[in-house]
Amino acid sequence: VLSAEEKALVVGLCGKISGHCDALGGEALDRLFASFGQTRTYFPHFDLSPGSADVKRHGGKVLSAIGEAAKHIDSMDQALSKLSDLHAYNLRVDPGNFQLLSHSIQTVLAAHFPEEFTAETHAAWDKYLAAVSAVLVSKYR
Ligand code: HEM
Repeated sequence: VLSAEEKALVVGLCGKISGHCDALGGEALDRLFASFGQTRTYFPHFDLSPGSADVKRHGGKVLSAIGEAAKHIDSMDQALSKLSDLHAYNLRVDPGNFQLLSHSIQTVLAAHFPEEFTAETHAAWDKYLAAVSAVLVSKYR
């Protein structure tokens, strides 16, 4: 459970991300695919070259969903219910990959928001992304 302070740190940075979801999300996916090649296997139908339109569009969806969930941070089970069904029942993404994506997203935030991404903000985001991931993998098996 995130404290009120941690929630504020998450929501605050979400405000700065919101206008740049495609670019930042696309970069997070580029880093994911470059550093953790096994994650590419879920996207055989995408052009996975760095900065491709597919990657940007999908990265935008991912970051927008993360921003939207922050607006419902106390009821994420409901807010993310459809996405949870999708990832568990249709996509069957191995749960370990969520940590890899969370790491890639945090790397992008650190690179683009060096002033805002203090150790405290980093810790809050780590907790937040773990909470989002926990909901998305909650319906497995
Ligand atoms: C689709 C969010 C983690 C693989 C999606 C969509 C969203 C999303 C918003 C689009 C759903 C739609 O079109 O209705 C997230 C979030 C994640 C996450 C918030 C974690 C924080 C992952 C991971 C993988 C993955 C770790 C695999 C490495 C996919 C795939 C699709 C998808 C393959 C379908 C792509 C397509 O064909 O358009 N995800 N996702 N997701 N996600 Fe995730």
